[in-house]
Amino acid sequence: MIKPTMVSPAPIFQMATGYWASSVLLTANRIGLFSAIGPDEVTVAGLAGKLKLSPYPLDQFLNTLVSLGFLERRGGGYVNSALSNTFLVEGKPTYMGEALKYSDDLYPVWGRLEETLRLGKPALAHEAILGQDPEKTRHFVLGMHNRALGMGQSLATQLDLAGRRKLLDVGGGPATYSCLLVKRNPGLTSRSMDLPAVVAIAKTIVEGFGLAGQVDAIEGNYHQASYPAGNDVVLCSGMFHRETAESCREILRKSFEALDTGGLVIVHDVMANGEKTGPAFSMLFGLNMALTATYGTVHSSEEIAGWMQEVGFVKTESQPMAPPWPEALVLGRKP
Ligand SMILES: C[S@@+](CC[C@H](N)C(=O)[O-])C[C@H]1O[C@@H](n2cnc3c(N)ncnc32)[C@H](O)[C@@H]1O
Repeated sequence: MIKPTMVSPAPIFQMATGYWASSVLLTANRIGLFSAIGPDEVTVAGLAGKLKLSPYPLDQFLNTLVSLGFLERRGGGYVNSALSNTFLVEGKPTYMGEALKYSDDLYPVWGRLEETLRLGKPALAHEAILGQDPEKTRHFVLGMHNRALGMGQSLATQLDLAGRRKLLDVGGGPATYSCLLVKRNPGLTSRSMDLPAVVAIAKTIVEGFGLAGQVDAIEGNYHQASYPAGNDVVLCSGMFHRETAESCREILRKSFEALDTGGLVIVHDVMANGEKTGPAFSMLFGLNMALTATYGTVHSSEEIAGWMQEVGFVKTESQPMAPPWPEALVLGRKP
C-alpha cells in the first residue's frame, strides 16, 4: 500500500513558475509602463494608446501588476503603488529601472543554464557587458550604480574611514561607492580603477555627483596594471565573485603593496556560508556569475579572510551588511 506523503509539493510549483512574476515585472519596466503612468491615473485604453499596446491582454497584465503590488486600482483606472512610484519611475533619485534592465538582459541567459553546465563556460560572454555591446554595458554599469546608490548609504555609514585620505577602488565600476564614501568622509579622495568602457560611463556619474576633483575614474585592468601606490584604503567591491581563489589572492597581494603601513583593505561582496550551501540567494547569485563570467562564483567570508592572512594582512574580520542587503564585508589591516 502506498503511504500518503507528508511532504508538500508547493515549493516545487512555486519555483517552477517563479519566472512568471519576473517576466511581468521586467516587461513592465522594459516597455516603460511605470514611467508612463507617473503620478497620473490611467485607463487601459489610455495606456494602450500611449505605449502602442493591444488592449487585450493589457487589462489582465495591469490587474496582474495590481496582484503583485506594483499598481493599485483607482476609480475606473490604475495608479502606481508606493513601491513602483518610488523605485520604478524614471527621474526619481531612487530609480532602479536600469538595474532591472540588466536583470532583463540576463533573463534569456538563465534559460541557457544547461549549456553552461555542459560546456563549463558562461552563456553570455562577459566581454558583452564590459564594453563589446554598448547598450548591455550601459545597463550593467547603470544597474550597478542603481544598486550601489541603494546600498551605499548603509556601506558609507557602516565603514569607519575617519582620518583616511586616499582610497583605491579596484574594479570600481560606476564609482558610486567611491563618490558616496568621499562625500561622507571629508579629506578622502579616491581613484576608481576599471576597464575603459566602464570608466567612460563612471566619469559621467562622478560629474553628476559634482566630485570630479575628488574622485578620479582611471583606466586599468586589475590583473595586468600595477596599482597606484600611497593609499590608506583599498576597496574591492563586487569583483571577487568573478575571480578564482588564485586571482583573488593576487589582487589582495597587489592591494597589500598599494597600501601604506596601517592601511585597510575592504572586500565587499555577496558571500556564501562556510560550507557553500547557502543562503539560497548567495548560491543563485554565484550561478548568475557562472552564467556571465568565466570562473564566476560566490566565495565565503572565511575564505577571503584566509587569503588576506596569506598575503600578510592582520586583524581580519567579517561583518554582515545591515539588512536588507545580502552582502558582507571582510576587512584586513596592513601591519
Ligand atoms: C559587479 S561590478 C562591481 C562594481 C563596483 N565595485 C560596485 O561594487 O558597485 C565588477 C566590476 O569589475 C570590473 N572588472 C572586471 N574585470 C576587470 C579587470 N580585469 N580589470 C578591471 N576591472 C574589471 C567590471 O568592469 C565591473 O565594473
